[in-house]
Amino acid sequence: MNDQAQRLRQLVDDKTEYIPQQNAGQPMQAMSTQGTRVLAVTSGKGGVGKTNLTVNLAIALGMAGQRVLVIDADLGMANVDVVLGSMSKKHLLNLLDNQTELEDVLMQGPYGVNYISGGSGIEKAADFTYEERQLLMQKLAGCGRLADIILIDTGAGLGKNVMDFVLAADEVLLVTTPEPTALTDAYAVMKAYSMYAVNKNIKLVVNRVYDEAESREVVAKLQQTSHRFLNMPIDCLGYIFEDSAVMRSVRKQTPFLAAQPGCTAARCIQGLANSMLYGSKMTVKRGWAGFLQQIFNFTR
Ligand SMILES: Nc1ncnc2c1ncn2[C@@H]1O[C@H](COP(=O)(O)OP(=O)(O)O)[C@@H](O)[C@H]1O
Ligand SMILES: [Mg+2]
Repeated sequence: MNDQAQRLRQLVDDKTEYIPQQNAGQPMQAMSTQGTRVLAVTSGKGGVGKTNLTVNLAIALGMAGQRVLVIDADLGMANVDVVLGSMSKKHLLNLLDNQTELEDVLMQGPYGVNYISGGSGIEKAADFTYEERQLLMQKLAGCGRLADIILIDTGAGLGKNVMDFVLAADEVLLVTTPEPTALTDAYAVMKAYSMYAVNKNIKLVVNRVYDEAESREVVAKLQQTSHRFLNMPIDCLGYIFEDSAVMRSVRKQTPFLAAQPGCTAARCIQGLANSMLYGSKMTVKRGWAGFLQQIFNFTR
């Protein structure tokens, strides 16, 4: 067994659920979360920056001392590994093979980003046999002990494969750009979420803004609409500036937080990570175990 597999096996075998330490001098809010935070990163329109946000946010949160796991659940256009410049050989559904364990599908990617590739077919997870669902659940349960935060990069839109992840996660980051088409599609997600989510916790991330005022305008528009027509409060986690460093880093297959840590987009991501850790109080409700139960249809 290579070093990576061994280390992961040790981590998986560690039966203690991670509980953040009460370290003196650190802001209290960052300590208030017990259990694993599960966030779905989603959008109405495709190509608005979900994957770049997910990967770079994972790096920023890792730098802040959090153990982060990324799950690539964008089945149509899975490209976490493309942005990271790393390639996973196995994906989540390989766990159905008896010989495959969690550490075989869990990639220790570059820049400290651990990730699992979803692979196609996971959208049918709820229809698998009882035994198959049990097996996947058992093997995936270890992720809750490995990570303080699990970021799920979902696809765009309202398909069942996207909404299942969005509705099972405790927190949702809804990414949009200021373009009217992206806003209309973001509203469609908000509407579906307002109808079906049990515990509503959705936050906006406005990507590709030219200035702060533009972001404020977008957020105000969506908040007003949500309040008026959906009766659902919607928070804003923050914004990311339009920055050519993003495109350059994608071409180099090196996340911009690593390639150009001083660029404006990277500084925005740092801000988002800080808001996530030290902003409004977050209580884990379902956590990872509850997420798995819902995805694998054990709650219905
Ligand atoms: N803040 C930004 N500034 C400039 N270009 C961006 C920014 N965010 C995303 N992009 C561009 O948009 C493309 C799509 O981003 P990606 O993260 O793959 O979107 P999604 O995962 O939502 O499909 C990137 O390859 C990049 O060229
Ligand atoms: Mg993507």
